[in-house]
Amino acid sequence: MHQRRRSTLDQFTIIAITILPLVVCLFAGCNRFVESPPDDAMAAGLTTADFPQAKDDLFSQMDGGVRLTENEIEGRNTWILWTAGNQVFWDRIAREGYGIVDLLKTLDSRNRAHRFGTMGLINEPGFRPSTRPDQYGLWLDQRIQPSPTQADPDEKIYGRSSGVIGLRIYPNPDFDNEAKKHWDARRYYSDRVYFSGRELIRPYRVGVTCGLCHVAPNPLNPPMDPENPRWENLDSAIGNQYFREGKVFAFDEHPGSFFWEMLNAQPPGTSDTSRVANDHINNPSSINPIFDLKARLKEGVDETIAGGALDLLAGVDETTPHRTPDQSVRKVPHILKDGADSVGVAGAIMRVYVNEGLDSQQWLTDHDLLLGLRPQRAFSVAQAARSSVYWRATFERVGNVEKFFSRIKPIHLEDAPGGSAYITKDQATMNRGKLVFAERCAGCHSSKQPPADISPRSPAGLKWYRESAMRPDFREGNFFSNDRRYPVSLIKTNACRALATNATAGHVWDNFSSLTYKSLDSTGPIETFNPAEPSKPLPFIAPAGGPGYYRPPSLISIWSSAPFLHNNSIGIFTGDPSVAGRMRAFNDAIEKLLWPEKRDGEAAIGVTTQPSFMRIPQSFIPEAFKPLCVDGFLNLGPIPRGTPINLVANVKPDVGNLLKLFPSANLALLNADIDSDFSQLMAKPNGDEKVRRLVSDLLSVRSNCPDLIEDRGHYFGAELPDPDKLALIEFLKTL
Ligand code: HEC
Ligand code: HEC
Repeated sequence: MHQRRRSTLDQFTIIAITILPLVVCLFAGCNRFVESPPDDAMAAGLTTADFPQAKDDLFSQMDGGVRLTENEIEGRNTWILWTAGNQVFWDRIAREGYGIVDLLKTLDSRNRAHRFGTMGLINEPGFRPSTRPDQYGLWLDQRIQPSPTQADPDEKIYGRSSGVIGLRIYPNPDFDNEAKKHWDARRYYSDRVYFSGRELIRPYRVGVTCGLCHVAPNPLNPPMDPENPRWENLDSAIGNQYFREGKVFAFDEHPGSFFWEMLNAQPPGTSDTSRVANDHINNPSSINPIFDLKARLKEGVDETIAGGALDLLAGVDETTPHRTPDQSVRKVPHILKDGADSVGVAGAIMRVYVNEGLDSQQWLTDHDLLLGLRPQRAFSVAQAARSSVYWRATFERVGNVEKFFSRIKPIHLEDAPGGSAYITKDQATMNRGKLVFAERCAGCHSSKQPPADISPRSPAGLKWYRESAMRPDFREGNFFSNDRRYPVSLIKTNACRALATNATAGHVWDNFSSLTYKSLDSTGPIETFNPAEPSKPLPFIAPAGGPGYYRPPSLISIWSSAPFLHNNSIGIFTGDPSVAGRMRAFNDAIEKLLWPEKRDGEAAIGVTTQPSFMRIPQSFIPEAFKPLCVDGFLNLGPIPRGTPINLVANVKPDVGNLLKLFPSANLALLNADIDSDFSQLMAKPNGDEKVRRLVSDLLSVRSNCPDLIEDRGHYFGAELPDPDKLALIEFLKTL
């Protein structure tokens, strides 16, 4: 045993000496920005007139059959069909993304029968699994019923349905005769070196629409078989709580890879929207429902908007920057968990389109794809308006998306099949629940707030809240959030999502956040858990300039969207979209929210399940270092079994920190040996003191977010007597 370790060490020493220049060259080579070229639509001489909105009511059975106006119909069609040209981005990431992402493989029709269960994807009605590969040898779903999108035959704009809601297939213009000669479908499905090659040209490109993560089974009309929903079973706004990001975007990661471990620990129904552009914080967020935008917009918070974001407000055209006056105060909602999208609804929607790959010609010059090893630059709205036809065509659409969402009403449990059976018939309990809500929750979770001359915290304020909650129309037009930002030091939930940095000044989403956001104070220290010193809280100070806040989410239809909190960390995942399945998830989550002693605590820390390695595919390694690769990869590790994922994932990526993680003696994390177990290394007195010191050092000074416990915080109401909690729960079910 000892002998094996010695000889491995020697080999590692050699690798370590050579890895240093590799790491340095990775960093140094990434330090230049290039000017962004026009997008492909502009390069092809197209204009917005080539991208008309789809006018037919293609999805009339969805969303409870709600009748929409012309504009609202166009808005929903955009939401479900419009990729904004991002198929160019997804194709590029398939080629340059280290063999991790390939949506054409995600679409493999042989998985259709269990797509919802394994990947959380929503099968488009009217398709079946293919019985044979297509002319290029690809397994793609076959249509069996006429398309609701048949009325809109322009596949150049919307591609064709893939059989999965939110993924659209386009012919690949680069798939010419030369590419055809090199195309080998058999190897594409089986040979990693072939399919992860940068040069491989696929016959199709796959584009992503907003529907991919947001369309899901309608709680009021759930499908009999979630693998085979009908249109009337689907809802645009509920958010896909079943989505498995790892399975959708990283089809070919396997146990033994650290990235696999990270995705494996990610709760279903979440997406880490700052993985690209990478902010080096692993903080997947729940895909929350978007209800009653109308009620949300009635409130709005004053934010000062300045800089590049002013171009967005002005809706710049290709020539003129609109920077006068140089500041503007607007009432805007706080969109996203941290309220970072703070320049209005149109701006928020445009930002997500860019995040999904709109104008990737510019976007990818602003940050370093996936690895994120060079400083970011702000995505320039003015530049996009000049050089991207897709930007302009999307800008023409977002007003209609906003109109569509303003029509989306809450979904009430009493209207769901069998729903009223879950709600108490005892009026006294319900009234008690309303009062408890008024006293403990409404200050943050109601958009109906006392008039300016009544202080919310005064006895008169309390009286106002009670009367407000007891009114029969309390629910009407109530967004059930005040949409304000609160410091995470007060909310005490896991800080990692609040610490996101992409919207801070000069970072990639600079043009989409307000000056108010960028000027926020530091929230002061928060206390985090250090596995090396469990009894001693580790203080962490959130930086000033935006990070560190959460806005209360709306509690509209909260019965339907458990697990809870920004990271879906509270409550079981049932994977069952029936009313009973949703109520099982709700009951578990609300209990854990109000009785924090029922939560998992330290056991909620995401950890590696086995020794794992960071694996860099050989094709990305400079020639001189290729001999170090084993089976096509350069492997950094082993990272011991039981290591907290975020101890490694949130480390600031500079050379010094990497060498700390993978010290010079060998490449093993923390000098661990393949048999090490993280908790044994930490255990006193028999653990390893040196490793413990290293862990404390990583967490206290080298981490972007050292907060490891996912399900902590939000202790509001925890001290209430049990009957009050039970009454409160009855009331919450009715929202
Ligand atoms: C890969 C999954 C994914 C896709 C695709 C996606 N979203 Fe989302 N969406 C999310 C997640 C995750 C959240 C919650 C993010 C947060 O608040 O941090 C969210 C939340 C939202 C919200 C609500 C934020 C709030 O404050 O209530 C809006 C609006 C939104 N998305 C718009 C869009 C638009 C527009 C598109 C299409 C361009 C889109 N999304 C596509 C994952 C996705
Ligand atoms: C000081 C403001 C504040 C008060 C008071 C407050 N909340 Fe919250 N609530 C928040 C914030 C902020 C979040 C988001 C925290 C996060 O996700 O990290 C939240 C999240 C929640 C969630 C999770 C929602 C979801 O979609 O995941 C529920 C449920 C909730 N609160 C219910 C309550 C109830 C019930 C009360 C009263 C007992 C209450 N809150 C009191 C601010 C507050």
